[in-house]
Amino acid sequence: MNNIALIGFMGTGKTTVGRVLAEMLGYRFVDVDQEVENEQGVSIAHIFSELGESYFRLLERDMIKSLSGKRDIVISAGGGAVLDVRNVDEMKRGGVLVCLTAQPEVILRRVQGNSSRPLLQVPDPLAKIQELMAGRQQFYALADHTIDTSGMTVKETAAQVIAVTKKKARQ
Ligand code: S3P
Repeated sequence: MNNIALIGFMGTGKTTVGRVLAEMLGYRFVDVDQEVENEQGVSIAHIFSELGESYFRLLERDMIKSLSGKRDIVISAGGGAVLDVRNVDEMKRGGVLVCLTAQPEVILRRVQGNSSRPLLQVPDPLAKIQELMAGRQQFYALADHTIDTSGMTVKETAAQVIAVTKKKARQ
């Protein structure tokens, strides 16, 4: 399979970069969270608050499994998807796994004022970002390639993904 799956912490730009990347490659862009929301007809925040995080993780896993069997897609996975190593295996089965990273302060700036991420609705979101990141580092390290997005534009990051995965952008 020839997909590109983008993983990484919330706010590292997986969705924004993924859209541009898909356009450059002539691939279809698929956001796992968005697909879960479409399928369930409710928001991720609603699923977390009404059905719990573990139920969300089941939906996320099923969605990743079905998407990984497709071809020519750029997948943007939620920041916690890598916590289940089966998701990592599925995405690798489907293609190349690229991790986007950014400094916690950059992430805070990007996600501030956005209430769609239930895990960051806490009094000290920066501390929460640092804590979650530290605990997830070992999982993000499973990616085939890692790109620090901190000082880069969306287009530059997408071009960098193409360079490291050695795909050809459409002219
Ligand atoms: C999560 C990240 C979110 C979403 C959910 C949980 C996480 O996706 O899946 O809120 O555990 O890091 P994004 O990384 O696209 O924000």
